[in-house]
Amino acid sequence: MYVLYYCSAELEIMGRSSKDKRDIYYRLAKEEGWRARSAFKLLQLDEEFNLFAGVNRAVDLCAAPGSWSQVLSRKLRCREEKSDSGEEVKIVAVDLQAMAPLPGVTQIQGDITKVSTAEEIVRHFEGRPADLVVCDGAPDVTGLHDVDEYIQAQLLLAALNITTHVLKPGGTFVAKIFRGKDVTLLYSQLKIFFSGVTCAKPRSSRNSSIEAFVVCQNYHPPEGYVPNMSNPLLDHSYDVDFNQLEGPNRIIVPFLACGDLSAFDSDRTYPLQLEAGKEYQYTPPTQPPISPPYQQACHLRKNNLLSKEESSNSGPQQSGEQTKAD
Ligand SMILES: C[S@@+](CC[C@H](N)C(=O)[O-])C[C@H]1O[C@@H](n2cnc3c(N)ncnc32)[C@H](O)[C@@H]1O
Repeated sequence: MYVLYYCSAELEIMGRSSKDKRDIYYRLAKEEGWRARSAFKLLQLDEEFNLFAGVNRAVDLCAAPGSWSQVLSRKLRCREEKSDSGEEVKIVAVDLQAMAPLPGVTQIQGDITKVSTAEEIVRHFEGRPADLVVCDGAPDVTGLHDVDEYIQAQLLLAALNITTHVLKPGGTFVAKIFRGKDVTLLYSQLKIFFSGVTCAKPRSSRNSSIEAFVVCQNYHPPEGYVPNMSNPLLDHSYDVDFNQLEGPNRIIVPFLACGDLSAFDSDRTYPLQLEAGKEYQYTPPTQPPISPPYQQACHLRKNNLLSKEESSNSGPQQSGEQTKAD
């Protein structure tokens, strides 16, 4: 008779490696030292659109845990070292959450929907505008698709609003977008400010997800436009179906799959041994989030306090006693 026995550490490693097997970009991110698999999305967008050419000042909105900032830092600072143009590279990263430091990246912990955040970004550039603004912002999803799409749209418009405060004419804006039913309205808003708007889907973004990225090129605001954070751009009238608009009001933007199409498919499972003869070695995450919103839940679970909280919360209702959960 064989007895299967695994110690908890082994079980943990097995769990971890099965995630590595399921998500090839997650695994590659750790092996290449990126803080999140999202790094590949920006790298693949750059392959298609050459986003970093001539960029010295960049803003990364909704940046935590920081893999897009890492890409910007590595790409822009490496070019700065090679060139003798004398232009200093400046990267400003903004997020609600704190982020571990990165070389050459100035961090602002703030809300991108606030005008004070826009002002702080502008201050960092000493009045000189940015060449590139990127935003991988995502709200905590609720699972209610209409609500999630609406909140995501609001975040994108907040990013666009901030962009109108900091981007130079001719500059580029890249942002995550959910291709939901009102996406045409968002395209129309973006077309007001940029002559080129493309919806792009990097290979590392799962096909099963409605996530894509708008790449907005050649910023040229309408004449006389004064950036104003208090203007809600998504001024929605719910009895208009924006996808049914005709003629010049109908906005359709090109859709492009990007990244090397022979690259890994983010929806597939890959074997752990990709190179013949090489032993699989588990790699821990490069930089776990330093203060994630789920921290308290992890603490409660690790210390087996979840069930106690549950029973202590239900206790007073049954017994009428007062208890205090910590
Ligand atoms: C998908 S993560 C970004 C990942 C990041 N691009 C990377 O590569 O590491 C989305 C981020 O959006 C941030 N976020 C959501 N709403 C925000 C807001 N109003 N202001 C600033 N950041 C926000 C979240 O805190 C979260 O860190």
